[in-house]
Amino acid sequence: MFALTGIGKLVTNDPSRDAGLLGTIDNAGLVADSSGRITWVGPAAEIGSHSDAKPIDVGGRCVIPGFVDSHTHLVFAGDRAAEFEARMAGRPYSAGGIRTTMAATRGASDETLRANVARLASEALASGTTTIEVKSGYGLSVVDEERSLVAASTATTETTFLGAHVVPPDVNADEYVAQVTGPMLEACATHARWIDVFCDRGAFDVDQAREILRAGSAKGLGMRMHANQLQAGGGVALGVELGVASCDHCTHLTDTDVEALASTKGSTVATLLPTAELCTRSPFPNARRLIDAGVTVALASDCNPGSSYTTSMPLAISLGVISMHMTCDEALWAATAGGARALRRDDVGVLKAGARADLVVLDAASHIHLAYRPGVAQIGAVVREGRVVAGSL
Ligand code: NIG
Ligand code: FE
Repeated sequence: MFALTGIGKLVTNDPSRDAGLLGTIDNAGLVADSSGRITWVGPAAEIGSHSDAKPIDVGGRCVIPGFVDSHTHLVFAGDRAAEFEARMAGRPYSAGGIRTTMAATRGASDETLRANVARLASEALASGTTTIEVKSGYGLSVVDEERSLVAASTATTETTFLGAHVVPPDVNADEYVAQVTGPMLEACATHARWIDVFCDRGAFDVDQAREILRAGSAKGLGMRMHANQLQAGGGVALGVELGVASCDHCTHLTDTDVEALASTKGSTVATLLPTAELCTRSPFPNARRLIDAGVTVALASDCNPGSSYTTSMPLAISLGVISMHMTCDEALWAATAGGARALRRDDVGVLKAGARADLVVLDAASHIHLAYRPGVAQIGAVVREGRVVAGSL
């Protein structure tokens, strides 16, 4: 049993409250049971009739759902600081850097991979991420992809098989696609919930991506993809054709792509990863154009050693608002409920009876401060399944 009171502003993301996009309640309380599920949310004055536990007063601070980071690559070894330094001096980003991390990852022990995942997952948790998706994709061989997914599974149930990240060096592309859809998928499917493919310049083309995603789907995996990061290719059109849960990046889109995403009525989410554009000095995706067209948008960190070495969802929210013209409400929704939609989850990203008690107490009076104070630590406490897992109340 766990009860919070004195919540100055509670963001529920519950549309049935009819209180704007975020379903906000002023002067609120929240109660969870011993299994970590929310049992009641409402005006603080009524908490006594919903909980026997002594309520903890959060002193007027803002409480939001825990962030749902639906796109990360936490399984890797080494880093690419030298590549980052060269990029800042003018060298363009390319998919080729993935092979540098592949070499380091193949050379690392299972213990090292697990320790790296644990370190980054706890960094994410401390910044308010209570649900995280983790991809493989730096092993690029049957054994190294499988052990990458075993490492990912130590941190989350939202694991994604990304054997189709790039073609490893000295392997023929057709042979590699056959390997990914054959023995690699066979070894990896039991450790993964999702299959992903990097469909872009320097990675996999549309026909290869279709074959890979269909093979994963036939094995029972949900489909998601990296699409239109480096150019306006056919990734998004393919994603909509196949009904993937999410097309991620969406940096370069045609009007037809935007219409296609909108036509799915939210079943295919556009997941935007603005820290990748920040760290590769690329143009930001046009979030306004997507939202105004009726596309469901999520924000995620894309944490990886190449294009976006950050786990910070607050930074993604700041960029969403300041550089991509999302409203403060839209950006917070995209980083919580939007991420949940991208993972096809309805038990997270929302604070209502029956949902998981995953929440963040901000050291601020409102969620606006997340965007308004970029780079400032404002996470007072993180609660996951009803337990304080970072900070303190
Ligand atoms: O999402 N785009 C493909 N994959 C990663 C980058 C991987 C890397 O550079 O190591 C991304 O940005
Ligand atoms: Fe990525």
